[in-house]
Amino acid sequence: MIVGKPLLSEDEIQKRVRELAAQISADFEGHELIAVGILKGAFMFFADLVRHIKVPMTIDFIIASSYVKDSTTGEVKVYYDLREDIKDKNVLLVEDIVDTGVTLNYLRERFLEQSPRALKICALLDKRERRIVDVPIDYKGFEIPNEFVVGYGLDYDNQYRNLPYISIFKKSI
Ligand code: IMP
Repeated sequence: MIVGKPLLSEDEIQKRVRELAAQISADFEGHELIAVGILKGAFMFFADLVRHIKVPMTIDFIIASSYVKDSTTGEVKVYYDLREDIKDKNVLLVEDIVDTGVTLNYLRERFLEQSPRALKICALLDKRERRIVDVPIDYKGFEIPNEFVVGYGLDYDNQYRNLPYISIFKKSI
């Protein structure tokens, strides 16, 4: 297994996270938020993002996945669901990466069924080339090429999540 040199350095990521948080704080000024992190991949991004958002918020998590190792099964499973009631609330859904869009689209529809006041989506990475389902991303960190990446919460087979930067991952044969 080879983890290449950083595609996005720790400094680049931290700078962009602060910019996203500033934009979210400005857009939600005077309102309360429920910030929902999609685990496990978004755990590091989510923790960094929320600590820079300046509006009052409640934190919640959902565990959902369609991925096994490095490919999508196309079927989204929810392993742990929201605890907060999001009806009439402003919800910020935070994802690590949008690839085919299947996961986020599924969660978005599931959330919209619960009639939130507003639902905004924030994703650190966007692999646009791979998109199958069009899903709106209100706050986007970076667009990246069609490569499998690890680090800063993102994994291959549950490893490499602890890296503070993001690298392209190559399987050695
Ligand atoms: P989608 O449903 O195809 O958009 O996939 C989204 C999920 O797949 C993300 O939340 C990640 O968990 C995982 N994923 C997609 N691409 C990558 C990648 O390059 N590295 C690690 N995980 C990825």
